[in-house]
Amino acid sequence: MSDFLVELGANRTARDLIKKLGLPIPLPQKLRRGEGPWEERPLHNLPVVFGAGSGADLVDGIAGTLARAGANVYVVGDEAGLEPFRAAGEAWARPPSRIEPGQVQEGLKPHALVFDASGMAGPQDLRAIYDFLHPWIRHLGRCGRVLILARSAATRDDPAAAAAHRAVDGLVKSVGREIGKKGSTAQTLYVDPGAEDRLEAAVRFLLSYRSAYVTGQPVHLSTTVPMPGDLPFVRPLEGKIALVTGAAQGIGNQTARALAREGARVVCVDLPSQDGPVGLLAKEIGGTPLLCDIADPDTPGKVAGTVKEQFGGIDIVVHNAGITRDKTLGNMTPDKWDAVLTVNLVGLIRLNEALLPLMKEDGRITCLSSIGGIGGNMGQTNYAASKAGVIGYVQALAPRVAGRRIAVNAVAPGFIETRMTAAIPTATREVARRLANLQQGGLPRDVAEVITFLSSPGAAGMSGEVLRICGGNYVGA
Ligand code: NAI
Repeated sequence: MSDFLVELGANRTARDLIKKLGLPIPLPQKLRRGEGPWEERPLHNLPVVFGAGSGADLVDGIAGTLARAGANVYVVGDEAGLEPFRAAGEAWARPPSRIEPGQVQEGLKPHALVFDASGMAGPQDLRAIYDFLHPWIRHLGRCGRVLILARSAATRDDPAAAAAHRAVDGLVKSVGREIGKKGSTAQTLYVDPGAEDRLEAAVRFLLSYRSAYVTGQPVHLSTTVPMPGDLPFVRPLEGKIALVTGAAQGIGNQTARALAREGARVVCVDLPSQDGPVGLLAKEIGGTPLLCDIADPDTPGKVAGTVKEQFGGIDIVVHNAGITRDKTLGNMTPDKWDAVLTVNLVGLIRLNEALLPLMKEDGRITCLSSIGGIGGNMGQTNYAASKAGVIGYVQALAPRVAGRRIAVNAVAPGFIETRMTAAIPTATREVARRLANLQQGGLPRDVAEVITFLSSPGAAGMSGEVLRICGGNYVGA
Protein backbone atom coordinates (compact mmCIF):
# COMPACT_ATOMS: atom_id res chain seq x y z
CA MET A 1 0.00 0.00 0.00
CA SER A 2 1.44 3.39 -0.95
CA ASP A 3 1.67 6.29 1.48
CA PHE A 4 -0.04 9.30 -0.10
CA LEU A 5 1.97 11.92 1.83
CA VAL A 6 5.31 10.30 0.94
CA GLU A 7 4.33 10.36 -2.74
CA LEU A 8 3.05 13.94 -2.49
CA GLY A 9 6.24 15.04 -0.75
CA ALA A 10 8.31 13.57 -3.58
CA ASN A 11 6.62 16.04 -5.96
CA ARG A 12 8.63 19.25 -5.77
CA THR A 13 5.85 21.56 -6.95
CA ALA A 14 3.38 20.17 -4.43
CA ARG A 15 6.01 20.41 -1.71
CA ASP A 16 6.79 24.06 -2.49
CA LEU A 17 3.10 24.95 -2.71
CA ILE A 18 2.24 23.37 0.64
CA LYS A 19 5.23 25.15 2.22
CA LYS A 20 4.20 28.53 0.70
CA LEU A 21 0.63 28.17 1.88
CA GLY A 22 1.93 27.26 5.34
CA LEU A 23 -0.35 24.21 5.53
CA PRO A 24 0.36 22.02 8.56
CA ILE A 25 0.79 18.87 6.46
CA PRO A 26 3.85 16.70 7.23
CA LEU A 27 5.64 15.87 3.99
CA PRO A 28 7.89 12.93 4.72
CA GLN A 29 11.07 12.52 2.71
CA LYS A 30 10.83 9.61 0.28
CA LEU A 31 13.55 7.28 1.58
CA ARG A 32 16.46 6.18 -0.55
CA ARG A 33 16.79 2.42 -0.45
CA GLY A 34 19.48 0.03 -1.63
CA GLU A 35 18.70 -1.50 -5.01
CA GLY A 36 19.79 -4.90 -6.30
CA PRO A 37 22.40 -7.14 -4.72
CA TRP A 38 25.13 -6.04 -2.29
CA GLU A 39 27.91 -4.11 -3.97
CA GLU A 40 31.65 -4.12 -3.30
CA ARG A 41 31.48 -0.34 -2.79
CA PRO A 42 28.15 0.62 -1.22
CA LEU A 43 29.44 4.15 -0.45
CA HIS A 44 30.90 4.75 -3.90
CA ASN A 45 31.85 8.47 -4.19
CA LEU A 46 29.69 9.47 -1.22
CA PRO A 47 31.24 12.18 0.98
CA VAL A 48 31.78 11.13 4.60
CA VAL A 49 32.98 13.62 7.22
CA PHE A 50 34.95 11.96 10.01
CA GLY A 51 36.13 13.15 13.40
CA ALA A 52 37.64 11.55 16.49
CA GLY A 53 37.87 12.46 20.15
CA SER A 54 41.01 12.12 22.27
CA GLY A 55 42.16 8.55 22.87
CA ALA A 56 39.92 7.23 20.07
CA ASP A 57 41.16 3.78 19.07
CA LEU A 58 38.78 2.65 16.34
CA VAL A 59 40.13 5.07 13.72
CA ASP A 60 42.25 2.52 11.81
CA GLY A 61 39.30 0.16 11.41
CA ILE A 62 37.02 2.95 10.23
CA ALA A 63 39.63 4.31 7.81
CA GLY A 64 40.03 0.94 6.10
CA THR A 65 36.28 0.30 6.03
CA LEU A 66 35.43 3.67 4.48
CA ALA A 67 38.15 3.37 1.84
CA ARG A 68 37.15 -0.16 0.84
CA ALA A 69 33.47 0.88 0.72
CA GLY A 70 34.37 3.64 -1.77
CA ALA A 71 33.65 6.75 0.35
CA ASN A 72 35.35 10.11 -0.13
CA VAL A 73 36.57 10.97 3.36
CA TYR A 74 36.94 14.45 4.86
CA VAL A 75 38.77 14.37 8.17
CA VAL A 76 38.07 17.11 10.71
CA GLY A 77 41.26 17.79 12.67
CA ASP A 78 44.98 18.34 12.24
CA GLU A 79 47.45 16.76 9.81
CA ALA A 80 48.17 13.85 12.18
CA GLY A 81 44.48 12.91 12.09
CA LEU A 82 44.78 12.35 8.34
CA GLU A 83 47.48 9.68 8.63
CA PRO A 84 45.33 6.52 9.06
CA PHE A 85 43.09 7.65 6.19
CA ARG A 86 46.06 8.40 3.94
CA ALA A 87 47.41 4.86 4.19
CA ALA A 88 44.01 3.22 3.77
CA GLY A 89 42.80 5.71 1.14
CA GLU A 90 45.84 5.46 -1.11
CA ALA A 91 45.56 1.68 -1.43
CA TRP A 92 41.99 2.17 -2.69
CA ALA A 93 42.56 5.42 -4.62
CA ARG A 94 40.62 7.37 -2.02
CA PRO A 95 42.99 10.07 -0.67
CA PRO A 96 41.37 11.94 2.26
CA SER A 97 40.83 15.68 2.53
CA ARG A 98 41.28 17.73 5.70
CA ILE A 99 38.83 20.18 7.26
CA GLU A 100 39.57 22.64 10.08
CA PRO A 101 37.64 21.91 13.29
CA GLY A 102 34.57 24.13 13.63
CA GLN A 103 34.44 24.90 9.92
CA VAL A 104 32.36 23.53 7.08
CA GLN A 105 33.40 23.24 3.47
CA GLU A 106 31.27 25.40 1.19
CA GLY A 107 28.92 23.31 -0.96
CA LEU A 108 29.79 19.99 0.71
CA LYS A 109 26.67 18.04 1.70
CA PRO A 110 27.97 14.93 3.49
CA HIS A 111 26.23 11.62 3.10
CA ALA A 112 27.45 10.70 6.58
CA LEU A 113 28.94 12.21 9.72
CA VAL A 114 31.02 9.63 11.59
CA PHE A 115 32.67 10.28 14.96
CA ASP A 116 34.90 7.95 16.96
CA ALA A 117 34.16 8.64 20.65
CA SER A 118 35.67 5.36 21.85
CA GLY A 119 38.37 7.07 23.91
CA MET A 120 36.05 9.03 26.22
CA ALA A 121 37.21 9.00 29.86
CA GLY A 122 34.28 10.94 31.32
CA PRO A 123 31.34 13.27 30.59
CA GLN A 124 33.67 16.18 29.82
CA ASP A 125 34.65 14.33 26.62
CA LEU A 126 31.08 14.41 25.27
CA ARG A 127 31.73 18.01 24.28
CA ALA A 128 33.92 16.78 21.41
CA ILE A 129 30.87 15.08 19.83
CA TYR A 130 28.90 18.32 20.06
CA ASP A 131 31.84 20.29 18.60
CA PHE A 132 32.02 17.86 15.67
CA LEU A 133 28.30 17.60 14.88
CA HIS A 134 27.26 21.20 15.56
CA PRO A 135 28.67 22.89 12.43
CA TRP A 136 27.82 19.98 10.13
CA ILE A 137 24.41 18.70 11.16
CA ARG A 138 22.47 21.25 9.07
CA HIS A 139 24.55 20.37 6.02
CA LEU A 140 23.89 16.63 6.15
CA GLY A 141 22.48 15.46 2.82
CA ARG A 142 18.95 14.04 2.47
CA CYS A 143 18.68 10.43 3.65
CA GLY A 144 22.06 10.96 5.30
CA ARG A 145 23.63 9.04 8.17
CA VAL A 146 25.06 9.97 11.56
CA LEU A 147 27.16 7.27 13.22
CA ILE A 148 28.90 7.63 16.60
CA LEU A 149 31.28 4.92 17.78
CA ALA A 150 31.64 4.31 21.49
CA ARG A 151 32.36 1.54 24.00
CA SER A 152 29.60 -0.29 25.87
CA ALA A 153 29.16 1.26 29.32
CA ALA A 154 29.42 -2.20 30.92
CA THR A 155 32.99 -2.58 29.64
CA ARG A 156 34.22 0.63 31.38
CA ASP A 157 35.82 0.25 34.83
CA ASP A 158 35.26 3.87 35.80
CA PRO A 159 31.58 4.85 36.42
CA ALA A 160 32.22 8.33 34.99
CA ALA A 161 33.51 6.80 31.76
CA ALA A 162 30.50 4.45 31.70
CA ALA A 163 28.22 7.49 32.07
CA ALA A 164 29.83 9.21 29.10
CA HIS A 165 29.56 6.20 26.81
CA ARG A 166 25.93 5.57 27.82
CA ALA A 167 25.19 9.27 27.29
CA VAL A 168 25.92 8.85 23.59
CA ASP A 169 22.76 6.75 23.25
CA GLY A 170 20.55 9.63 24.41
CA LEU A 171 22.41 12.13 22.29
CA VAL A 172 22.16 9.99 19.16
CA LYS A 173 18.48 9.14 19.66
CA SER A 174 17.76 12.88 19.91
CA VAL A 175 19.83 13.61 16.80
CA GLY A 176 17.71 10.98 15.05
CA ARG A 177 14.56 12.87 16.04
CA GLU A 178 16.06 16.09 14.63
CA ILE A 179 17.15 14.77 11.25
CA GLY A 180 14.36 12.22 10.61
CA LYS A 181 12.18 14.58 8.59
CA LYS A 182 14.96 14.71 5.97
CA GLY A 183 14.95 10.92 5.77
CA SER A 184 18.23 10.78 7.69
CA THR A 185 19.12 8.33 10.43
CA ALA A 186 21.45 8.22 13.45
CA GLN A 187 22.91 5.24 15.31
CA THR A 188 25.45 4.48 18.01
CA LEU A 189 27.83 1.62 17.37
CA TYR A 190 29.00 0.22 20.71
CA VAL A 191 32.12 -1.87 20.21
CA ASP A 192 33.27 -4.24 22.95
CA PRO A 193 37.03 -4.54 23.57
CA GLY A 194 38.25 -7.28 21.23
CA ALA A 195 35.36 -6.80 18.78
CA GLU A 196 37.19 -4.18 16.70
CA ASP A 197 37.55 -6.69 13.84
CA ARG A 198 33.72 -6.85 13.55
CA LEU A 199 33.31 -3.18 12.61
CA GLU A 200 33.39 -3.46 8.86
CA ALA A 201 30.12 -5.25 8.05
CA ALA A 202 28.14 -3.17 10.56
CA VAL A 203 29.58 0.16 9.40
CA ARG A 204 29.00 -0.68 5.74
CA PHE A 205 25.41 -1.64 6.46
CA LEU A 206 24.54 1.27 8.74
CA LEU A 207 26.03 3.88 6.38
CA SER A 208 24.42 2.34 3.29
CA TYR A 209 20.92 3.01 1.96
CA ARG A 210 19.94 -0.54 2.97
CA SER A 211 19.48 0.55 6.59
CA ALA A 212 16.87 3.13 5.46
CA TYR A 213 14.33 2.43 8.22
CA VAL A 214 16.73 1.80 11.14
CA THR A 215 17.30 4.87 13.31
CA GLY A 216 18.03 5.82 16.90
CA GLN A 217 19.50 2.39 17.56
CA PRO A 218 22.33 1.41 19.86
CA VAL A 219 23.99 -1.37 17.85
CA HIS A 220 26.24 -3.55 19.97
CA LEU A 221 29.24 -5.51 18.67
CA SER A 222 30.59 -8.24 20.92
CA THR A 223 33.03 -11.12 20.76
CA THR A 224 30.34 -13.69 21.69
CA VAL A 225 30.53 -15.47 18.33
CA PRO A 226 33.86 -16.06 16.53
CA MET A 227 34.42 -14.34 13.18
CA PRO A 228 34.37 -16.56 10.07
CA GLY A 229 37.58 -16.70 8.05
CA ASP A 230 35.97 -15.56 4.83
CA LEU A 231 34.04 -12.27 4.70
CA PRO A 232 32.59 -11.76 1.24
CA PHE A 233 30.66 -8.52 0.70
CA VAL A 234 29.40 -9.53 -2.74
CA ARG A 235 27.04 -12.57 -2.85
CA PRO A 236 27.71 -13.01 0.90
CA LEU A 237 25.29 -15.95 1.17
CA GLU A 238 26.61 -17.96 -1.79
CA GLY A 239 26.19 -21.68 -1.12
CA LYS A 240 24.17 -21.19 2.07
CA ILE A 241 20.92 -23.01 2.82
CA ALA A 242 18.26 -20.79 4.38
CA LEU A 243 14.76 -21.36 5.76
CA VAL A 244 12.14 -18.63 6.11
CA THR A 245 8.79 -19.22 7.82
CA GLY A 246 5.74 -17.23 6.71
CA ALA A 247 7.31 -16.73 3.28
CA ALA A 248 4.07 -16.42 1.28
CA GLN A 249 3.65 -12.68 1.73
CA GLY A 250 4.79 -9.51 3.50
CA ILE A 251 8.12 -9.43 5.34
CA GLY A 252 8.78 -13.17 4.92
CA ASN A 253 8.33 -12.98 1.15
CA GLN A 254 10.74 -10.06 0.79
CA THR A 255 13.22 -11.76 3.13
CA ALA A 256 13.23 -14.98 1.10
CA ARG A 257 13.83 -12.91 -2.05
CA ALA A 258 16.65 -10.89 -0.48
CA LEU A 259 18.43 -14.00 0.88
CA ALA A 260 18.16 -15.66 -2.54
CA ARG A 261 19.44 -12.49 -4.24
CA GLU A 262 22.62 -12.76 -2.13
CA GLY A 263 23.16 -16.39 -3.11
CA ALA A 264 21.20 -18.52 -0.61
CA ARG A 265 19.03 -21.49 -1.52
CA VAL A 266 15.81 -20.78 0.39
CA VAL A 267 13.29 -23.21 1.87
CA CYS A 268 10.02 -21.24 1.86
CA VAL A 269 7.68 -22.36 4.66
CA ASP A 270 4.02 -21.37 4.95
CA LEU A 271 0.55 -22.76 5.63
CA PRO A 272 -0.91 -25.35 3.22
CA SER A 273 -3.57 -22.73 2.33
CA GLN A 274 -0.72 -20.61 0.88
CA ASP A 275 0.27 -23.29 -1.61
CA GLY A 276 -0.15 -20.94 -4.62
CA PRO A 277 1.94 -17.94 -3.49
CA VAL A 278 4.64 -20.08 -1.83
CA GLY A 279 5.00 -22.27 -4.92
CA LEU A 280 5.29 -19.19 -7.13
CA LEU A 281 7.87 -17.57 -4.85
CA ALA A 282 9.98 -20.73 -4.66
CA LYS A 283 9.90 -21.01 -8.45
CA GLU A 284 10.93 -17.37 -8.91
CA ILE A 285 13.89 -17.54 -6.53
CA GLY A 286 15.00 -21.11 -7.20
CA GLY A 287 13.96 -22.18 -3.70
CA THR A 288 11.98 -25.06 -2.19
CA PRO A 289 8.36 -24.72 -1.00
CA LEU A 290 7.46 -26.45 2.26
CA LEU A 291 3.82 -26.36 3.37
CA CYS A 292 3.07 -26.82 7.05
CA ASP A 293 1.48 -25.20 10.07
CA ILE A 294 3.95 -23.89 12.68
CA ALA A 295 1.28 -24.44 15.34
CA ASP A 296 1.19 -28.20 14.66
CA PRO A 297 3.43 -30.13 17.10
CA ASP A 298 4.41 -32.55 14.29
CA THR A 299 5.74 -29.73 12.09
CA PRO A 300 9.25 -29.36 13.59
CA GLY A 301 10.03 -33.05 13.05
CA LYS A 302 8.75 -32.93 9.47
CA VAL A 303 10.63 -29.73 8.60
CA ALA A 304 13.87 -30.97 10.15
CA GLY A 305 13.47 -34.30 8.33
CA THR A 306 13.01 -32.57 4.97
CA VAL A 307 15.96 -30.24 5.52
CA LYS A 308 18.22 -33.13 6.55
CA GLU A 309 17.17 -35.29 3.63
CA GLN A 310 17.40 -32.61 0.94
CA PHE A 311 20.30 -30.47 2.15
CA GLY A 312 22.09 -32.31 4.95
CA GLY A 313 22.08 -29.21 7.17
CA ILE A 314 21.14 -25.55 7.36
CA ASP A 315 22.98 -22.20 7.64
CA ILE A 316 20.29 -19.55 8.06
CA VAL A 317 16.89 -19.66 9.79
CA VAL A 318 14.40 -16.78 9.84
CA HIS A 319 11.45 -17.29 12.19
CA ASN A 320 9.05 -14.83 10.61
CA ALA A 321 5.59 -16.46 10.63
CA GLY A 322 3.36 -14.57 13.02
CA ILE A 323 -0.26 -13.71 13.65
CA THR A 324 -2.35 -11.20 15.61
CA ARG A 325 -5.72 -11.80 17.29
CA ASP A 326 -6.35 -8.46 19.00
CA LYS A 327 -8.80 -7.92 21.87
CA THR A 328 -8.57 -6.14 25.20
CA LEU A 329 -7.68 -8.60 27.94
CA GLY A 330 -11.23 -8.47 29.34
CA ASN A 331 -12.67 -9.46 25.97
CA MET A 332 -10.02 -11.94 24.93
CA THR A 333 -11.19 -15.51 24.45
CA PRO A 334 -8.81 -18.35 25.38
CA ASP A 335 -8.60 -19.48 21.73
CA LYS A 336 -7.26 -16.05 20.67
CA TRP A 337 -4.72 -16.11 23.47
CA ASP A 338 -3.59 -19.64 22.63
CA ALA A 339 -3.46 -19.13 18.86
CA VAL A 340 -1.06 -16.18 19.07
CA LEU A 341 1.20 -17.67 21.74
CA THR A 342 1.32 -20.99 19.91
CA VAL A 343 2.35 -19.63 16.49
CA ASN A 344 4.52 -16.69 17.56
CA LEU A 345 6.40 -18.24 20.46
CA VAL A 346 5.73 -21.92 21.27
CA GLY A 347 5.88 -22.99 17.60
CA LEU A 348 8.95 -20.83 16.99
CA ILE A 349 10.84 -22.42 19.89
CA ARG A 350 9.77 -25.97 18.95
CA LEU A 351 10.89 -25.51 15.33
CA ASN A 352 14.14 -23.88 16.36
CA GLU A 353 14.99 -26.70 18.77
CA ALA A 354 14.39 -29.21 15.96
CA LEU A 355 16.61 -27.29 13.52
CA LEU A 356 19.47 -26.50 15.92
CA PRO A 357 21.13 -29.96 15.64
CA LEU A 358 21.21 -29.43 11.85
CA MET A 359 22.75 -25.98 11.98
CA LYS A 360 26.19 -25.63 10.49
CA GLU A 361 29.07 -23.57 11.86
CA ASP A 362 28.72 -19.81 11.29
CA GLY A 363 24.94 -20.30 11.30
CA ARG A 364 22.61 -17.34 11.72
CA ILE A 365 19.15 -17.33 13.32
CA THR A 366 16.85 -14.30 13.23
CA CYS A 367 13.53 -14.17 15.07
CA LEU A 368 10.78 -11.65 14.41
CA SER A 369 9.86 -9.72 17.52
CA SER A 370 8.01 -6.38 17.38
CA ILE A 371 8.14 -2.97 19.04
CA GLY A 372 4.80 -4.12 20.50
CA GLY A 373 6.85 -6.62 22.47
CA ILE A 374 9.04 -3.79 23.80
CA GLY A 375 6.43 -1.13 24.54
CA GLY A 376 3.17 -3.09 24.72
CA ASN A 377 0.08 -2.24 22.70
CA MET A 378 -3.61 -1.68 23.46
CA GLY A 379 -5.50 -4.90 22.76
CA GLN A 380 -2.34 -6.94 22.19
CA THR A 381 -1.57 -8.65 25.50
CA ASN A 382 -1.24 -11.98 23.67
CA TYR A 383 0.84 -10.59 20.79
CA ALA A 384 3.09 -8.40 22.98
CA ALA A 385 3.69 -11.33 25.36
CA SER A 386 4.70 -13.55 22.45
CA LYS A 387 7.01 -10.92 20.94
CA ALA A 388 8.65 -10.05 24.28
CA GLY A 389 9.07 -13.79 24.82
CA VAL A 390 10.97 -13.97 21.54
CA ILE A 391 13.47 -11.45 22.93
CA GLY A 392 13.93 -13.50 26.09
CA TYR A 393 14.49 -16.64 24.03
CA VAL A 394 17.06 -15.01 21.77
CA GLN A 395 19.00 -13.49 24.65
CA ALA A 396 19.14 -16.78 26.55
CA LEU A 397 19.96 -18.87 23.48
CA ALA A 398 22.78 -16.69 22.12
CA PRO A 399 25.50 -17.64 24.66
CA ARG A 400 24.39 -21.29 24.54
CA VAL A 401 25.06 -21.70 20.81
CA ALA A 402 28.01 -19.31 20.49
CA GLY A 403 30.44 -22.21 20.94
CA ARG A 404 29.06 -23.63 17.70
CA ARG A 405 29.73 -20.25 16.02
CA ILE A 406 26.00 -19.60 15.66
CA ALA A 407 24.61 -16.06 16.08
CA VAL A 408 20.99 -15.52 17.18
CA ASN A 409 19.24 -12.16 17.06
CA ALA A 410 15.79 -10.63 17.13
CA VAL A 411 14.50 -7.84 14.93
CA ALA A 412 11.68 -5.65 16.18
CA PRO A 413 9.84 -3.95 13.32
CA GLY A 414 7.68 -0.91 13.99
CA PHE A 415 4.94 0.07 11.56
CA ILE A 416 5.60 -1.79 8.32
CA GLU A 417 3.28 -1.46 5.31
CA THR A 418 1.89 -4.99 4.94
CA ARG A 419 -1.54 -6.63 4.79
CA MET A 420 -1.33 -6.89 8.59
CA THR A 421 -1.09 -3.09 8.99
CA ALA A 422 -3.42 -2.32 6.05
CA ALA A 423 -6.17 -3.85 8.20
CA ILE A 424 -5.72 -1.11 10.87
CA PRO A 425 -8.45 1.63 10.75
CA THR A 426 -7.38 4.61 8.58
CA ALA A 427 -7.05 7.23 11.34
CA THR A 428 -5.02 4.94 13.62
CA ARG A 429 -2.85 3.92 10.67
CA GLU A 430 -2.10 7.57 9.81
CA VAL A 431 -1.10 8.33 13.41
CA ALA A 432 1.06 5.19 13.60
CA ARG A 433 2.90 6.16 10.40
CA ARG A 434 3.63 9.74 11.46
CA LEU A 435 4.78 8.81 14.99
CA ALA A 436 8.17 7.78 13.62
CA ASN A 437 11.15 10.15 13.22
CA LEU A 438 11.00 9.40 9.51
CA GLN A 439 7.26 10.29 9.54
CA GLN A 440 6.29 7.21 7.52
CA GLY A 441 5.88 3.46 7.74
CA GLY A 442 8.63 1.11 6.65
CA LEU A 443 8.43 -1.38 3.80
CA PRO A 444 8.80 -5.17 4.09
CA ARG A 445 12.05 -4.86 2.13
CA ASP A 446 13.49 -2.62 4.89
CA VAL A 447 13.09 -5.50 7.35
CA ALA A 448 14.36 -7.97 4.74
CA GLU A 449 17.58 -5.97 4.30
CA VAL A 450 18.27 -5.98 8.04
CA ILE A 451 17.66 -9.73 8.27
CA THR A 452 19.95 -10.29 5.27
CA PHE A 453 22.68 -8.29 6.99
CA LEU A 454 22.23 -10.27 10.22
CA SER A 455 22.36 -13.52 8.20
CA SER A 456 25.68 -12.60 6.58
CA PRO A 457 29.07 -13.93 7.71
CA GLY A 458 30.32 -10.42 8.66
CA ALA A 459 27.50 -9.92 11.18
CA ALA A 460 29.23 -12.29 13.65
CA GLY A 461 29.68 -9.31 16.00
CA MET A 462 25.97 -9.33 16.76
CA SER A 463 24.39 -12.06 18.83
CA GLY A 464 21.70 -11.91 21.50
CA GLU A 465 20.75 -8.46 20.19
CA VAL A 466 17.40 -6.87 19.44
CA LEU A 467 17.51 -4.49 16.51
CA ARG A 468 14.52 -2.24 15.98
CA ILE A 469 13.44 -1.41 12.45
CA CYS A 470 10.95 1.26 13.34
CA GLY A 471 11.98 4.55 11.71
CA GLY A 472 12.46 5.94 15.23
CA ASN A 473 8.93 5.21 16.41
CA TYR A 474 7.94 6.57 19.82
CA VAL A 475 6.14 3.31 20.67
CA GLY A 476 8.36 1.13 22.80
CA ALA A 477 10.84 3.97 23.24
P1 NAI B 1 1.76 -11.24 7.18
O1 NAI B 1 0.47 -11.55 7.87
O2 NAI B 1 1.73 -10.38 5.97
O3 NAI B 1 2.53 -12.60 6.83
C1 NAI B 1 2.69 -13.63 7.78
C2 NAI B 1 2.91 -14.94 7.05
O4 NAI B 1 3.00 -15.98 8.04
C3 NAI B 1 1.73 -15.31 6.14
O5 NAI B 1 2.20 -15.72 4.88
C4 NAI B 1 1.03 -16.43 6.89
O6 NAI B 1 0.37 -17.33 6.03
C5 NAI B 1 2.20 -17.07 7.62
N1 NAI B 1 1.72 -17.81 8.78
C6 NAI B 1 0.84 -17.41 9.72
N2 NAI B 1 0.60 -18.41 10.57
C7 NAI B 1 1.34 -19.47 10.19
C8 NAI B 1 1.49 -20.78 10.67
N3 NAI B 1 0.81 -21.21 11.74
N4 NAI B 1 2.33 -21.63 10.02
C9 NAI B 1 3.00 -21.22 8.92
N5 NAI B 1 2.90 -19.96 8.41
C10 NAI B 1 2.06 -19.11 9.04
O7 NAI B 1 2.71 -10.62 8.32
P2 NAI B 1 3.90 -9.57 8.20
O8 NAI B 1 3.33 -8.22 8.43
O9 NAI B 1 4.72 -9.82 7.01
O10 NAI B 1 4.72 -9.94 9.52
C11 NAI B 1 5.74 -10.90 9.54
C12 NAI B 1 6.32 -10.97 10.94
O11 NAI B 1 6.76 -9.68 11.36
C13 NAI B 1 5.31 -11.43 11.99
O12 NAI B 1 5.96 -12.27 12.92
C14 NAI B 1 4.86 -10.15 12.63
O13 NAI B 1 4.40 -10.35 13.94
C15 NAI B 1 6.14 -9.33 12.58
N6 NAI B 1 5.90 -7.89 12.65
C16 NAI B 1 5.22 -7.23 11.66
C17 NAI B 1 5.00 -5.87 11.76
C18 NAI B 1 4.27 -5.07 10.70
O14 NAI B 1 4.12 -3.87 10.87
N7 NAI B 1 3.83 -5.66 9.62
C19 NAI B 1 5.46 -5.11 12.93
C20 NAI B 1 6.18 -5.90 13.89
C21 NAI B 1 6.38 -7.23 13.74
